[in-house]
Parts: sequence; structure tokens; C-alpha cells
Amino acid sequence: MKITTSVFKQKKLSGEKITMLTAYDYSTAKLEDEAGVDSILVGDSLGMVMLGYENTLSVTMEDMLHHARAVSRGAENAMIVVDMPFMSYQTSVYDAVVNAGRLVKEGNADAVKLEGGVKFTEHIRAIVDASIPVMGHIGMTPQSVNAFGGFKVQGKSIEDAKCVIADAKAVEKAGAFALVMECVPAELADYITDILDIPVIGIGAGNGCDGQVLVYQDMLGVYSDFTPKFVKRFGDIGGEMKNCFAKYCKEVRSGAFPAKEHTFKIDSETMKAVTEEY
Ligand code: KIV
Repeated sequence: MKITTSVFKQKKLSGEKITMLTAYDYSTAKLEDEAGVDSILVGDSLGMVMLGYENTLSVTMEDMLHHARAVSRGAENAMIVVDMPFMSYQTSVYDAVVNAGRLVKEGNADAVKLEGGVKFTEHIRAIVDASIPVMGHIGMTPQSVNAFGGFKVQGKSIEDAKCVIADAKAVEKAGAFALVMECVPAELADYITDILDIPVIGIGAGNGCDGQVLVYQDMLGVYSDFTPKFVKRFGDIGGEMKNCFAKYCKEVRSGAFPAKEHTFKIDSETMKAVTEEY
């Protein structure tokens, strides 16, 4: 069954947790979809985990479209949410609508996600008015890494906590169907989850949220440059990949691979006729 914004709403009402993971390519999207993940996020985190940038600021619309198209070919049921990259919506409400439209028309996004609260309500409202579902993203918003002075937990002081609450309410009022809340103390996240009607998807926001999202390379141990405190490793696929790569090198060097069963045959008469000509 295709997961839609109505399914998100139902899950909030019934208390069934929403599952979301990032994916950036066809094969991973297919695996996640088959595993029953509710929503796949084509996150601008691809700048770090796929392209090797230090942060998400260099990611372009073309990067997002390229990866979104690949993911959409792999996912049948999961809702595909695509991130609006840095400077694709901050520049104007007009740019926000045009670029959200491109992610839907050219990237096959079911919904778009953008970072920011109170300051971006006009942008969110205009995209929603264009019939494109919007997922908000508040708390630690990676596109503001330079303004924050690093990837830091948000909402720890009275003033900051009030700002996070104001952002959450503003995003809901602007018409977003859900909200990602990143790196916020668990008690504050619980409070916001309770007062909002839209689902809150947490990442580093405790387990009281309506759902959870993780970057898949983090939870599989594939990306090792930086592991945030909130990440749980569900497996060591990175270690397993490295072992397999090393085994492959060893077998190629020793001549053990390819073996007979990986090799194509030619009829000996045909081969004789071919070589006799030379
Ligand atoms: O880009 C991303 O992967 C995200 C998640 C961290 C929520 O925005």
C-alpha cells in the first residue's frame, strides 16, 4: 500500500510509530521499501555520505534531482520525501515554489522537506498552496551549521527551547503535514509532539516522537567520518564491505577468482577455426 500523508495522520492518531530512513540510490531504496520502511528521505545529507563534502551546503538541485529519480525507481510503497537543498528556497518564496515543483515533476518526489520554522512560514504555505506536501525540519538544521557554530543540540536554554516550540507551531500552522525535529532534548521533543496535531519525526530527539529517521549509512556503519551520539548501529555493513573488498583483491591476485563457474565457454571446434586463421 502506498504511504501517503493521510497514513502519516492516521499513524499519529493511532500511536503507531512512523519509520523513515534516508536513501540515495535505486538498490537501497528497493531494499528499504521491501523491508517495510514507511518513508524514504532523499536527504541533502547525500552531500556528506555520498559525495564526501564536509557539510550539506554545496548540494545542488541537480544533485537532489539525480538521486531522487533513482530512489523513486526503487520504491513502490514508501512515501518519497526529497530535501530542498541550501539556497533553493531561502532566496524567495517564488524560488521555493519553483524548486519544490521541480523536485515533484523531475524528481518524482511525493513531498518535499525544508529546514527552518518561523522565518519560513510563507515559503511553506506557498508550496502547500501549490498542492505539494511539505515536511518541516526544525531544531538542529544542518544548512544553518555556520550560523549555529557547528552541529549542536538546540533548545537547551529557556529562550532557545521557546524558539524551538515557536518554530514547531509555525510550521504546523503554515500547513506542513509532518515535521522532522533534530537534536533537541527528549523532554522538549515529547512536549512538542504532544501539542502538535501533525506527526513529529525525531532524530536525536528521544523516543517520544511519533516516528524516527536515521541516515542509513550511519545505522549500518558505512559512514565513519563522524558518528553523532544519537546514532545506533544496527549492523556493521561497512566492516563487512571492507572484508569482502579485501577478499576480492586477494582472490584476484592469487588467481582464485574468477573460477570455472564464473567463466563463459566456446566450442573447441569454433575456437580452433578462429585461431587457425592467424
Ligand atoms: O538530510 C538528511 O538526511 C536529513 C535527516 C538528517 C533528517 O535531513
